[in-house]
Amino acid sequence: MADGAVVVVGGTSGIGRELAAAYARAGTPVVVSGRDEQRAREVASGIGGPVRGIGLDLAEPASIRQALESVGPVQRLVVSAIERGVNHITRFDRTHAMRLVTLKLVGYAETVHVLQDRLVAGASILLFGGLAKERPYDGSTTVSTVNGGISGMVRTLACELAPVRVNAIHPGIVGDSPYWIDKPVGAFVERTPIGRLVTMAEVVQAATFLLECGGMNGADLFVDGGWLLR
Ligand SMILES: NC(=O)c1ccc[n+]([C@@H]2O[C@H](COP(=O)([O-])OP(=O)(O)OC[C@H]3O[C@@H](n4cnc5c(N)ncnc54)[C@H](OP(=O)(O)O)[C@@H]3O)[C@@H](O)[C@H]2O)c1
Repeated sequence: MADGAVVVVGGTSGIGRELAAAYARAGTPVVVSGRDEQRAREVASGIGGPVRGIGLDLAEPASIRQALESVGPVQRLVVSAIERGVNHITRFDRTHAMRLVTLKLVGYAETVHVLQDRLVAGASILLFGGLAKERPYDGSTTVSTVNGGISGMVRTLACELAPVRVNAIHPGIVGDSPYWIDKPVGAFVERTPIGRLVTMAEVVQAATFLLECGGMNGADLFVDGGWLLR
């Protein structure tokens, strides 16, 4: 593996945290970020190994450059952050929409922009979208929109940053993720051919494949146990 750190923006919780932990277990230096630096440091120490925590708010793009100042060479950049919320076009919440659009579409892009000169030879980038872009649900107006935007972003970045590889991963409902673990998911399970929801470990496996396989570039990988087939 190349020198440099694995940076996981949104690495203090859920899938991002699991992915950070997997790289740390392999002895790779990792930087995890969340909105609050103190919490990010606590999460980093909880993961253990060569992991460092930093504070970074993607919904405040003008602050991202400074927040990333302490980050050195980067071999893998993962941007997985999300702020949860609901929005409907019939009772549209502009504040929520502006925040999530800024976070996912401007904040993700600004993070890549700021770190582009720190990417080492052989580096790769992974952006998180989600299958709300293909299968909307009640209240998913904004998240369906921004996750669709990730598909566009990954294509242009893979061209502009070549030979750096850039991929996107789109999980379905991840049953053991913090957001879903206590929610009723029976209807989603019924539609999933594998008879259960996908797990964080499976999404981490797929994410690692995209990050490490030298032939994967410009891809939108769906990880949903076949959920979209029904
Ligand atoms: N879980 C699922 O079922 C599912 C399904 C489809 C797609 N996805 C996608 O997979 C990714 C990970 O999802 P998850 O459920 O594992 O996430 P999660 O547990 O909700 O964690 C979200 C992460 O984003 C960070 N974050 C929140 N607001 C931020 C902001 N304004 N700026 C920077 N960081 C911020 C959080 O850090 P702090 O709280 O420490 O600030 C945390 O590390 C997301 O992009 C999500 O859209 C997940």
